Amino acid sequence: MTLKNMLMWDETLFRDPDIFEIDYIPDQFNYREGQMRELAFLLRPGIKGSRPLNALLKGTPGTGKTTSVRKIFSDIRDIPSKMIPIHINCQVENSRFMILSQIYRQIKGHNPSAAGNSYKRVLDSIAEILLAEDRVLLVALDDANYLLFENELNKVLYLLLRSHETYPGTRIGVMVIISDMDVDLSRELDVRVTSVFSPTEVYFPPYSHDETFQILKERVMQGLYPGVLSEALLEVVVDHTLRTGDMRVGIDMIKRATMNAEKDAMREISQEHIHEAYKISRFLHLKYSVLSLRREEKELLKILIELSQSDEQLTSGEVYLIVKKKLKLGYTVYYEALRKLDNLRLINLQFRDGRGRTRLINLRYDPDKIKLYL
Ligand SMILES: Nc1ncnc2c1ncn2[C@@H]1O[C@H](COP(=O)(O)OP(=O)(O)OP(=O)(O)O)[C@@H](O)[C@H]1O
Ligand SMILES: [Mg+2]
Repeated sequence: MTLKNMLMWDETLFRDPDIFEIDYIPDQFNYREGQMRELAFLLRPGIKGSRPLNALLKGTPGTGKTTSVRKIFSDIRDIPSKMIPIHINCQVENSRFMILSQIYRQIKGHNPSAAGNSYKRVLDSIAEILLAEDRVLLVALDDANYLLFENELNKVLYLLLRSHETYPGTRIGVMVIISDMDVDLSRELDVRVTSVFSPTEVYFPPYSHDETFQILKERVMQGLYPGVLSEALLEVVVDHTLRTGDMRVGIDMIKRATMNAEKDAMREISQEHIHEAYKISRFLHLKYSVLSLRREEKELLKILIELSQSDEQLTSGEVYLIVKKKLKLGYTVYYEALRKLDNLRLINLQFRDGRGRTRLINLRYDPDKIKLYL
């Protein structure tokens, strides 16, 4: 194929490229009927104007938690209801003040006034609206594991769930969504919070082989032209997806493999195109985790990468001596940052037998790969 031919080749293999975008909400959403029914049941009191029951949604990444909530929320908006559903992405809104401001913004369509520069004031305004308009508030804290640092989850839940004490007559329900199966909320939450937060747990198990196959096949039929991806190669994508457990990896692989085929001006995806796509798609998790870090956490990660070039085993105590000098962080802040990197599965923190509190630190990814996103 000549360069001229390649430039002229403007055929696309995508019937609809949006189908593979990260925020696309599929029309076809199977295998989650049980969870959706359970959620609808918990929220039903809110439609009529009472407080909805609280829920805890748990399941590993890419098992359909966010999509389920978004679908239910759009159904609620379509029917007459006293309940205002608000979805919060806690990777972005990760403090009490930011969350309350976002709630206000979603209710009113604009930022809280300049006077609302304290979380208390913003909460006052929210309560005022709820009482004046006789509305119920439903807040979904998505990816709430990002609030476990600096105790933010306790602070936010305390305010929302005890609002009726400060503002009699307000009704607020909460959905907490968590994808880290190691998190034990009963250990993380204060008794002041657990006494008002007894959520019903809704579990999202990983998809089986057949479910993964059907979900991805559905996307392929909607998003690509017939014959672009064979069933045999779709099986290869399914295998990779199951290995990571995250549906997003499969969806992203199909998109990239199709682009690779287009680049080669082929009408059909080859094994090689899939193989190349997987090399990138399998780092999806790494990419989003690194992007969600705060500045000092990124700086810490850079130092860990630098130090990992030597053959010495990194320990939390020795790394701290360097961090203290370079970043001027106190020990508590440093340790919280380490815990967060561990929680996000970027590093592995491990106790060493018989040596007090110091921990061994290992990176979970190839340092060169991490650097790409820092
Ligand atoms: N049952 C399903 N049918 C079709 N698509 C699905 C299904 N489940 C998940 N997906 C797709 O997989 C991707 C991940 O789903 P979603 O974002 O809902 O997962 P999640 O459980 O919220 O993951 P995380 O914990 O990482 O936030 C989305 O693109 C979604 O459209
Ligand atoms: Mg999600």
